[in-house]
Amino acid sequence: MTGPATAPLPLSLLPDTATIGDQGQLLVGGCDTLELAAEFGTPLFVYDEAHLRARCTEAVEAFGDGVAYATKAFLCRAMAQLAHECGMQLDVATAGELHVALAAGVPADRLVMHGNNKSMAELEMALTAGVGRIVVDSFDELDRLDMLAARGIARQGDGGQGPARILLRMTPGIEAHTHEFVATGQDDSKFGFTVSSGLAGKAVERAMASPAVELLGLHAHIGSQVFSIDSLRQSATIIAAMAAPYDLPELSVGGGLGVAYVDGEEGLTITQWARVVKDAVAATGCTAKVLAEPGRAIAAGAAITLYTVGTIKHLPDIRTYVAVDGGMSDNPRPVLYGSGYETFLPRAVEARRARTITVVGKHCESGDTLVRDGTVPDDIAVGDILATPVTGAYGYSMGSNYQHVLRPAVVFVADGEARQVVRRQTLDDLLRYDVAP
Ligand code: LLP
Repeated sequence: MTGPATAPLPLSLLPDTATIGDQGQLLVGGCDTLELAAEFGTPLFVYDEAHLRARCTEAVEAFGDGVAYATKAFLCRAMAQLAHECGMQLDVATAGELHVALAAGVPADRLVMHGNNKSMAELEMALTAGVGRIVVDSFDELDRLDMLAARGIARQGDGGQGPARILLRMTPGIEAHTHEFVATGQDDSKFGFTVSSGLAGKAVERAMASPAVELLGLHAHIGSQVFSIDSLRQSATIIAAMAAPYDLPELSVGGGLGVAYVDGEEGLTITQWARVVKDAVAATGCTAKVLAEPGRAIAAGAAITLYTVGTIKHLPDIRTYVAVDGGMSDNPRPVLYGSGYETFLPRAVEARRARTITVVGKHCESGDTLVRDGTVPDDIAVGDILATPVTGAYGYSMGSNYQHVLRPAVVFVADGEARQVVRRQTLDDLLRYDVAP
């Protein structure tokens, strides 16, 4: 339900363990968020560990072993360990993500390697580490795997060396009905083997004939922040129908489940999503194990970002700008995709939000907007801690050092304890790659 424009923040947009303290302030994981801001500084990403664990566990229960957390949504060693402990595999899509997951102690055979343009070096790194699956995106990549095999580079596993275990990424020709920058299932896409043009069938034949690879299944990922159940269902149906005659053991439907960011939005749960795609696959007669790789659905709702209000500029009959100490460098989603967020004051979570404001960052461009026409309590003042909820996915991970603004710290909170899992950058960090003249 969409509340009146002045309604307090819907509590459903907060992390699972959010509670209200005796002064009306927000607690997450039993920690007072205002105290977290004072202790760790702002901007600060605060992740609710119980929320992350609950979503990982739900994914494993819904899909079974083999479901992978898409680390591009948010990755640090603590996050990799958490997802692994909860029984998830990890989807890594670059050498960098692979390196962090391995450094976290996640066994290589629990990793799924993605990427539409994996280099020879990345493929070699994945094989020698012994990754469990490589999701192959192109004929050029099949060529590279053949070349590596010819050079004697095989997948390292417990039982010795073996061919690369692969899935083939299909492009099913499905519109995901999401922002065009994150839609990937339509024919006009850089990703995967197009089903409608017959490339997909050729890729399957080729992979089955190649001694360099062991084909375990097909994969499709039609986009991210997808609310259309029909699109998710249709994509699963198309790749299942394609896979059925080959009797392959696995079928991955990718990630993409949409989550609620603002009042009035409602997404499926991971459990509901699994039901929809598993039923669609079963209806085709395909008996493969259905796998998935959610990122946003695991991490987005687990975190809030805390900022400090630095300036308030009221322009009568135009708008009120509230500038905070972060911006597009810690959350580029609004400027990239026009994404909407709510805003609220953690000191008064249940207060009516009667004042309409635009939250902007500290970068030198007008596009640096975090929340356009957000609402906050009337008495917002310079020095207040202001928060945006649902920032756990594609916020920190897509952040930058634009204008040499320092990247924020990240804390995990649970049972009244806060642990810093990524420290705030320092000014000296900015000089670490800068080779002195
Ligand atoms: N699998 C593959 C192959 C992917 O490319 C992605 C996301 C996922 C799984 C996870 O999708 P999720 O469950 O998180 O929707 N930066 C954009 C989202 C880009 C998603 C890229 N691929 C955003 O902030 O909305």
